[in-house]
Amino acid sequence: MAGYEIKVKSKDFTYRVLIEEGLLSGLGKTVRLLLPSSKALLVSDSTVFSLYGERVLKALKSEKWQVSICRVQPGEKSKTLTSVSKLYNAAVKAGLDRNSPVIALGGGVVGDLAGFAASTFMRGVPLVMVPTSLLAQVDSSVGGKVAVNHPRGKNLIGSFYPPRLVVIDPLVLNTLPARQLQAGLAEVIKYGIIENKDFFLWLEENIGYLLSGENVFLVEAISESVRAKARVVQADEYEKDYRRILNFGHTIGHALEAATDYSYYLHGEAVLCGMLLAVEISLRQNILDLNAARRIKTMLAKCGLKRPPTGLTAQKIIDRLKQDKKRREADFIFVLPSAIGSATIVPVNDLNLLKNVIELLWFEDWGVV
Ligand SMILES: NC(=O)c1ccc[n+]([C@@H]2O[C@H](COP(=O)([O-])OP(=O)(O)OC[C@H]3O[C@@H](n4cnc5c(N)ncnc54)[C@H](O)[C@@H]3O)[C@@H](O)[C@H]2O)c1
Repeated sequence: MAGYEIKVKSKDFTYRVLIEEGLLSGLGKTVRLLLPSSKALLVSDSTVFSLYGERVLKALKSEKWQVSICRVQPGEKSKTLTSVSKLYNAAVKAGLDRNSPVIALGGGVVGDLAGFAASTFMRGVPLVMVPTSLLAQVDSSVGGKVAVNHPRGKNLIGSFYPPRLVVIDPLVLNTLPARQLQAGLAEVIKYGIIENKDFFLWLEENIGYLLSGENVFLVEAISESVRAKARVVQADEYEKDYRRILNFGHTIGHALEAATDYSYYLHGEAVLCGMLLAVEISLRQNILDLNAARRIKTMLAKCGLKRPPTGLTAQKIIDRLKQDKKRREADFIFVLPSAIGSATIVPVNDLNLLKNVIELLWFEDWGVV
């Protein structure tokens, strides 16, 4: 199957995103061509390491890398300063020098955590991303945002620190649970809605194949998503303005995650709800026309809308929205689609509108056709 190489320009260097089945087995050589060091720190979570750790270690050792390993528990609770400290200790013990890469093998949690540690250890050592969840392959591994959580908020401690290389082996998605795959697809569809109409049309045709995990289609979806993300982050690396369109669905999505203690929705599931509601707001504000809104909602609904848990109310979600770090005074900042393939950033301050729209999470069937 065809492989892809996508170049992403950041302020200080250009890095490559390689996408091809089987790349994991050649990782040692790929990294060796880039970096002169002999030592590396491999960071993973215990689930991903048990599936792919041995293969990656073999690939690295065959190219004479001396590899130290740092494993964390799977899941968001590992994205803490305590885990960062564990990584620093492993890096010191391994005797990393300033050319020694931190290799992040895992989903977005491992990437964000290892990336943050790499950005600060010895004022920055090279970061190699080997993303294994669909969300990490299409989103978090590209663009250089790294962060850990604070008890008072998600991703509160972080920086911009682009990777030196991203290695995507789509074959690893064969072991990804279906729920995780579906959640990752929400971010894939996001690019079609906000940035690339042709991609949206392709997704309308092929979403069924993606949902059933067909590798040929997943490779195409990953490469188109990475290209879209690369275009956006190259235009605005430090999120001064345009990059904010990537937050489509995230305003309400983050509030939903926070209001349910990060334990009910996967990130992609919450973003999917947020995108549906943003489409509804856009429609009601006459920014998006009815036909486009219907098509976007139909596509999103195919990825499975997760209804809110009992006990959650629209008011609780609004209370969380009020704590959004991107909020400006009385305005909630929303990314709203203005057509299929483009989006605009709009302040919204009508609390009644927000409440009415959020209540649709419980009642609307979203008109799946
Ligand atoms: N930095 C960014 O730009 C950015 C963008 C979006 C999301 N994020 C962050 O990403 C995180 C979510 O990422 P995620 O959804 O990948 O979560 P995750 O890293 O927790 O991975 C999800 C689960 O899938 C498992 N898994 C991963 N790959 C697997 C595979 N190939 N086979 C079997 N199991 C596998 C993991 O062990 C984990 O249990 C959040 O912390 C979010 O804040 C960051």
